[in-house]
Amino acid sequence: MTRPLHFGLLGAMPEEIGSDLSHLKDLSCSNHGDLTIHKGSLGDTVQLSLAWSGWGKVSAARAATRLLASDPNIDLLVFTGVAGAADPTLRQWDVVLADAVMQHDMDARPLFPKFTLPALNQDRLQPQQDWFNWAKTALLEAYDAGGLEGFARPSSGLIATGDRFIGDAAVLQTLRDDLPGLRAVEMEGAAVAQVAEQEGIPWLVLRVISDGADEAAAQSFEDFLQRYEQQAWRLIEALLQRCNVAPRRCA
Ligand code: ADE
Repeated sequence: MTRPLHFGLLGAMPEEIGSDLSHLKDLSCSNHGDLTIHKGSLGDTVQLSLAWSGWGKVSAARAATRLLASDPNIDLLVFTGVAGAADPTLRQWDVVLADAVMQHDMDARPLFPKFTLPALNQDRLQPQQDWFNWAKTALLEAYDAGGLEGFARPSSGLIATGDRFIGDAAVLQTLRDDLPGLRAVEMEGAAVAQVAEQEGIPWLVLRVISDGADEAAAQSFEDFLQRYEQQAWRLIEALLQRCNVAPRRCA
């Protein structure tokens, strides 16, 4: 029998995954300094290793590295949580699956072009196509079946990461001008993607819009997060429920 599909799951804060893990079986946890890694399973076909990383690229990269080191069988690393809208058509509850991520605050000029990650010599990182297609289909099927009530129809696009909470329309406009096709901004995704790329593990970044990355962003973000905590798990479930057709097939 094939071993269960093993998901590595990270969010910056408990609210972004849902802090109630009672739906998982065989729960255990291990502490690594101030990081707790929870392990559990869902039915016989899915194993989960998950943690709340804290905010920002360093915390996210550290948590990703620890999580991957905690189990050699992790098949896919997913970072999920909320994001600010950069695409003005996006609203709260819109779901964006990254088809590419980049670090908007990486600038090693003149040695590398602006935004290029020296470690990988590229700026945009793209998830593996088969995992991306699987996740996109899973989300759309869940949405069409009514399993994502309250969320808007999932879409995909470029998500930019940086160590800055964007709450200023002028700053956001500069990012939009620099990064054509930009849909959302956040503070962790591309750091986790870089770690996963360097470790040779498939990754996805899945975000829900909480605010408009403008002057009202901080208030919208805080209000949204309280409501989002009750719903976050449904988005993750939409993926987990379709593990039987995931690229790394389970039993
Ligand atoms: N995460 C959620 N909203 C954000 C914003 N406006 N800027 C950066 N990260 C965010």
